[in-house]
Amino acid sequence: MKKIIAANWKMHKIRPEAAKEAAVLAQSLVKGTPDNRLVVVFPPYTDIATVADAFSGVNNLAVGGQNFYPAESGAYTGEISPAMLRDAGATWALTGHSERRHIFAENDDIIAKKTAFGLAQGFKIMLCVGETLKERDDGELKSVLSRQLSTAIAPLSPAERDRLGDKLAIAYEPVWAIGTGKVAEPQEIIDAHAEVRDLLRGLVGDMAKDLPILYGGSVKANNAGAILALDNVDGLLVGGASLEATGFLEIIGA
Ligand code: 13P
Repeated sequence: MKKIIAANWKMHKIRPEAAKEAAVLAQSLVKGTPDNRLVVVFPPYTDIATVADAFSGVNNLAVGGQNFYPAESGAYTGEISPAMLRDAGATWALTGHSERRHIFAENDDIIAKKTAFGLAQGFKIMLCVGETLKERDDGELKSVLSRQLSTAIAPLSPAERDRLGDKLAIAYEPVWAIGTGKVAEPQEIIDAHAEVRDLLRGLVGDMAKDLPILYGGSVKANNAGAILALDNVDGLLVGGASLEATGFLEIIGA
């Protein structure tokens, strides 16, 4: 399985900044993204077309939306549709990111709707899951992961689930490791990813082995290689350390 190295730019970069970073990435990777890597960048909406233009024609580079509203169009002031993301050049989208869950109060129900709608619209979905520090301390890691995965995946029809093979990736991002500089310990990552794999097996059967599980939370150039080498780690979702192309290229090559 190709390792997926994903960049979540969050609410950073105006278009000239995005163009500059995307050009550096494309120029470096045009010579050949390491063949065992797929790089996906999730820029703010206003940067998607800029990044997609810079990436066009370069293998193993893709662009995604950080969010969308689960409807084709309509009176949803301030929202964006999957069709609009696609038109701008996105083929991936995030659902369930912890900042959507905790800052914007997205619950499991809306995340399930977005996941199903995005998949139905032909997007590859990166579904983010992860526990808060309190949930971990209270011994709720497994129940949180189980609830977040099952509420998003179980409502899909059997036919939809059969097609998830190359359409769904999971990002395990412990909330306490996001933007804090406190990366999860190797054993914590191994345990959580094994749990996610098990839960996926219960939800989609054998296909679970083909679904990439990424780790996210304070990934940097100096820890990326060690995390990627852990069992059941099929990629990385990188926030802060993806904002500067040179450092991100080091993570891609880790
Ligand atoms: P940081 O890499 O900045 O901790 O962010 C992780 C994240 O939320 C990626 O989606």
